[in-house]
Order: sequence, then structure tokens, then C-alpha cells
Amino acid sequence: MRGDPQYDDTRVDCLPVDDTVVPGHSHGSIQGLQSACGSHTFKGCAIAGPRGTKYDRRLIWDGYSMIPYLVIGRGRLSRHVQHYLALEAVEFEHWDRTSEVSLEHALAGVRTALLLISDDAVESVLDRYARQQPPLWVHCSGCVTTPLAESAHPLMLFGEELYDIDTYRRVPFITESGRRPFSDLFPELRNPHATVEPDLKPIYHALCSLGGNFTTMLWQKVFAESEATLGVDRTMFFPYLEQVARNLTTCKTPLTGPLVRGDDKTVEHHLRALSGDPFEAVYRAFVSAYRSDSALRAS
Ligand SMILES: NC(=O)c1ccc[n+]([C@@H]2O[C@H](COP(=O)([O-])OP(=O)(O)OC[C@H]3O[C@@H](n4cnc5c(N)ncnc54)[C@H](OP(=O)(O)O)[C@@H]3O)[C@@H](O)[C@H]2O)c1
Repeated sequence: MRGDPQYDDTRVDCLPVDDTVVPGHSHGSIQGLQSACGSHTFKGCAIAGPRGTKYDRRLIWDGYSMIPYLVIGRGRLSRHVQHYLALEAVEFEHWDRTSEVSLEHALAGVRTALLLISDDAVESVLDRYARQQPPLWVHCSGCVTTPLAESAHPLMLFGEELYDIDTYRRVPFITESGRRPFSDLFPELRNPHATVEPDLKPIYHALCSLGGNFTTMLWQKVFAESEATLGVDRTMFFPYLEQVARNLTTCKTPLTGPLVRGDDKTVEHHLRALSGDPFEAVYRAFVSAYRSDSALRAS
């Protein structure tokens, strides 16, 4: 007779094929489940969750067939990763702080837990939940490094707009050297990937911010001032912006302008025009960096 599983967040019941119920295996460990079921003719078990939820009864056939990914978090990267996995038809579950089941419960039967939450919260969540294996824990911070999880930083911007599958497939992932390779972390994906030394992750991530976030801030300033101060629609700047990006990837000497030409009077005019603006200090910092960085001057 098949019994009714215990529906709570902390215990699971095992339903071997002989229809008996093995109640109350401790939750969260597939290895634990398997050994607990060792005395049965065991081909499958169900992890029971609150009735009516998607965790109601999750089958783990042969003791090993696991859900490939649990995507944790509901921020920007989480939305993109869920979209990418769906486009690739890779199975995943999702959990965030508003979910009706506990994280311990959601982790059961999962092969890889993708921890896509704020950098500052990554280590405390890992400290609480990632001391048992499986699942394999992976976070996507470009800066954090910890023995409690692998890391794979997607070298791309993820905002509100979702991308198409070709864009996602081109996203490079940066993992840590000396740790598990990208193919272990995402066996279903074929993205380009590279490794960096864990000690170098802060400078790697600082470079990402300089190149991505700070150029975005600069262009946001340009667009805003163009419309508010000059009365020129921002779209007039789009071809200029596109050529800046194109020259950076195609030209050996992409930098032009008064600094390269040595037009110091023009630079002084610019600084006077920006006087009192928060970006006056930004402009001065760029002038200083250019003049003290011989590699930049040579390129
Ligand atoms: N966005 C990008 O372009 C990008 C690119 C590469 C890598 N990453 C990495 O991806 C990760 C997520 O970044 P994001 O841009 O997606 O951030 P985000 O949009 O700001 O979202 C952060 C999420 O973290 C959740 N969170 C914070 N503390 C938590 C905790 N203690 N427990 C559970 N959830 C918690 C928040 O949940 P609530 O909503 O419940 O507050 C929020 O949904 C970070 O490690 C980041 O470095 C992001």
C-alpha cells in the first residue's frame, strides 16, 4: 500500500517501487537518500513538499536523476540565466526569498545550485547552506572567491532587457584557475570560457567596472547634457558611440582627441566648461591617468 508522504519542509519520504513508504529521511542529501533506501528494491523516490506546490512530489528515478540547476535569486542575472536555460531547453527550478518553500527543501534533488544574489550576501548564504554536497554550488560574482563554491563570472552586462539565444551563447565565462572547469559547472552549455587566478579576481572585476559600468556612466552623462544643455537629441550621438566601440575592437590606435594631439589649451577650455560639475573631477582624473600611463600614451 502506498502511503502518503509527510508534507513538510524538513523531512522527505521515500517511495520505493515496492510501494512501501520509508518515512522521515533527513532532507537535503541525495547520498543520504540513496543509502537510506539501500534495503529496498529501489528505483525511485519522491521528495514531498507542501501540497499544491511544484515541489509537491519530485521524482528522482534510479536515485541519481537530478534536476540540473536550481537558480537562486530574483535579480537581473537570475532572470537572464533562467531565460537562457529555457531557450536551451535545460531543466531548472527557481528559488528566491519570496518562495513558499525553504531553500533546504528546494535544494533536494538538485545537481547544481546557481547562487545569483548580491555579492555581499554570497558568502553568508554559502556558509549556511553549502557545507554539504551535493549540490555543486556556483556563484557568478566576478570578485568573490571562496572554497565553499565554484565561481563562473559571465563577462557581459545583464540589465532589464532579455537577450536572444545567440547573444547568450557568445557570453564568455571566467572561472578560477585551479578549480573545476567550466564544462563541469555547466555541462549543457558551450560558451567561451577562460580562467583567472583567484588572487587576481579583484583587479579583473575592477577592469570590468572601468570598461563597462564607468563608460556607461560617461555616456549617460553625455546623453543627459546633450538633451538638457544643448537641446540635441541623444540619437545624434549614436553613430559616434558605435564608432568608438568599433574602433576599440578593430584599430591598433583607437584613441583620438586633444590629449593625443597635445592640444593643452583645448583641454583647459573643457575643464573651464565643466567647472562645478561632478564630471570636472572625472575629466581631470582621465587627464592625469593619461599623462602618467606610458602604455596608454603609446597605444
Ligand atoms: N547584472 C549583471 O550585469 C551581472 C553580470 C555578471 C555577474 N553578476 C553577478 O550576479 C550576481 C547577482 O547580480 P544581479 O545584478 O542579478 O543583482 P540584483 O539584480 O541586484 O539582484 C540581487 C538579488 O540578490 C537577492 N539577495 C540579496 N541578498 C540575499 C540573501 N541574503 N538571500 C537571498 N537572496 C538575496 C535579492 O533578493 P530580493 O529581491 O529578495 O531582495 C535580489 O533579487 C552578483 O554576484 C553579480 O556580481 C551580475
